[in-house]
Amino acid sequence: MKKIWSLVASVGLVLGITGCGATTQPTPNISNSANPAPEAGDLVFVSLPNEEDERWTRDGAELRRVITEAGYKVDLSFAENKIDRQNTEIENAITKGAKIMVIAAKNGTSLVSSVDKARAAGIKVIAYDRLIMDTSAVDYYLSFKLETIGQAQAQYIIDKLGLAKGEKGPFNVELFSGSSDDNNAKFYFRGAWELLQPYFANGTLVSPSNRVNENFSAEQWQSISIDSWKLENAQKEMEIRLSKYDEGRTALHAVLSPSDAISQGVINALRDSSFSQWKPGSEQWPWITGQDATNYALYNINQNLQGQTVWKDTRELANKTAEVCIQILEGETVSTDSSMNNNVLDVPSVFLDSVPITKTGESDAPGTQPVQFVIDSGFTTAEQLKQY
Ligand code: GAL
Repeated sequence: MKKIWSLVASVGLVLGITGCGATTQPTPNISNSANPAPEAGDLVFVSLPNEEDERWTRDGAELRRVITEAGYKVDLSFAENKIDRQNTEIENAITKGAKIMVIAAKNGTSLVSSVDKARAAGIKVIAYDRLIMDTSAVDYYLSFKLETIGQAQAQYIIDKLGLAKGEKGPFNVELFSGSSDDNNAKFYFRGAWELLQPYFANGTLVSPSNRVNENFSAEQWQSISIDSWKLENAQKEMEIRLSKYDEGRTALHAVLSPSDAISQGVINALRDSSFSQWKPGSEQWPWITGQDATNYALYNINQNLQGQTVWKDTRELANKTAEVCIQILEGETVSTDSSMNNNVLDVPSVFLDSVPITKTGESDAPGTQPVQFVIDSGFTTAEQLKQY
């Protein structure tokens, strides 16, 4: 065990979370007779929402790598965005004797029965990136600071349209939120709306589709959701909204998109529309935000099709998660510096920082970096950004 721990420590995974209000959750002593001491090679089950979005295949590969390198077995599965499938796979993993489950829920409120069974079997459950709601059977939650991501997206739009400098517009914008079954989506939108709402209230921002108006509230975020964060769903919704626009006339100045897949759907709809006012590459093309720093989004940013993305270094998230897994398996104390309520309990949580990305790093959103920054970190390569 010591050997494994020193391996983990040596690759820089020492838990460094202190800060005010830090809470420490002693993990139960897993070497008592009811819970025999874990052996190296214990199984960690990882369940991710789907394999079609680059976001999740990348997380899966990284989780598998770091947990395996620490000497544990990993069973990795993707739920194809199907609730039943994710529940069944969780139940199968209980039978296979998993000691820990790392789960990014397809639907945050639909895993109660399976994770309750996991808890009853003595398995620790870690909510990965997305919080699992409505159950006491979640031990830890690891993600990124959620509202900050929405704020960075809104800040980009405010900056590009010159709103803080007093530009009065009115500017036409379309706002989207993420999947209605993902707790994250609410917080991303809340962060964004807090900054954009005043401009809707004074008429500087308007939405030709009328999906959002000056009376909108953050609580209504699900009315502008894109189911499963899917590109095709975003494209379809954008096409519907474009029916409120006129050929050659109604401008579109900016689009608040909460994730790169949604941005790509919006870009496809704009590109495929016959309207002449926003030809790709023209000055009339809207400022479009995103999240995840996927290769296709970084490519789009380099091509001036997407303006911004928010990079969550998911290698860091995977490493933190592996570290928590190992601490649990070793009977060590797991430290968390935050918590998030899932309607049943305050789940001990860790929230990492994200980095807004634009083509050259220009933007008022604090900490914005250029695409090159992501390449320099080794998260992707210049070569991979030439492929689209
Ligand atoms: C969210 C996640 C985003 C994005 C999205 C699409 O839960 O926080 O970063 O990946 O899912 O899968």
